[in-house]
Amino acid sequence: MTKHPTSEQLEITQGLCQSPAKISPKYFYDTNGSALFEEITRLQAYYPTRTEAAIMARHAQEIAGSIGANRMLIELGAGNCQKAKVLCELINPTHFVAVDISEAFLQEAVAAMRLAFPHIRIEAIASDLTAEVVLPASLPAQGRLVFYPGSSIGNFDPPHALALLSRMRGLLQDDGAMLIGVDLVKNQTVLNAAYDDDAGVTAAFNLNILNHVNRLIGSNFDTAQWLHRAFFNPEQLRIEMHLQAKTDLLVRWTGGTRRFDAGERIHTENSYKYRIEDFVALLTRAGFSQTQVWTDDQDWFAVVLAKP
Ligand code: AVI
Repeated sequence: MTKHPTSEQLEITQGLCQSPAKISPKYFYDTNGSALFEEITRLQAYYPTRTEAAIMARHAQEIAGSIGANRMLIELGAGNCQKAKVLCELINPTHFVAVDISEAFLQEAVAAMRLAFPHIRIEAIASDLTAEVVLPASLPAQGRLVFYPGSSIGNFDPPHALALLSRMRGLLQDDGAMLIGVDLVKNQTVLNAAYDDDAGVTAAFNLNILNHVNRLIGSNFDTAQWLHRAFFNPEQLRIEMHLQAKTDLLVRWTGGTRRFDAGERIHTENSYKYRIEDFVALLTRAGFSQTQVWTDDQDWFAVVLAKP
């Protein structure tokens, strides 16, 4: 680390020095982490992606009708843009703006979107959603549709989820809308299996955060010394992911160290699961007064269209 640590380096080292230690889940998504997340979305155990896609396919015409024509589509956390591709085919927007934290991954995905939709004006914005998303001034303010699929809202604790939804509302005029995917509270066996799959892909995804942190702060985390832990917390209605030290460890980085006892954990992620009525109440508090909700037959996942 240089003499003057960056705000990113400070955030990480401060989190590591807390008790319990924590690393923000935004550091999952280096190039390898983004590829591992894509692999997770294809796992049988990880039901959210395919359930959301099935809801969108089943109710495609009704959803498109409620969204309306001539929209400027803004996808937050666009990743590989696969979901936006489906939505572009459905609503044929005038513009598509892809926002994601992982720039290299985003540029590749956006290049493919430009080839697939040459008539749509397409922009890529590399941004962390915990900060304000600034859209180019040249983009119209009218007719915006914010798309936030995949239940990524679940990775924010309730106050931050409210703040993020309020910021999304702030991107919209009265004619705007938001289409958002939300994972719902369900049987704990299903939830636990989704975050601790037998193939070990989620474990690899969780452990990879240490490699990313090593590059960012010059630390010497060794992934072989850590275990993946994921479980549903029924009081908080959230899946928690942690990394657990296998033995007593000393981790060093430029300018600091942290001792971990065997069994001690680093908290890496929460994934909140909602009851529909609680999520609609959150949307109301964020300034959305109209909502339409579509779910699957098992009520595992909800797709919600919210308007001011
Ligand atoms: C991105 N996000 C919605 C995923 C989730 O389900 O919370 C991240 C994830 N973590 C482990 N598996 C998937």
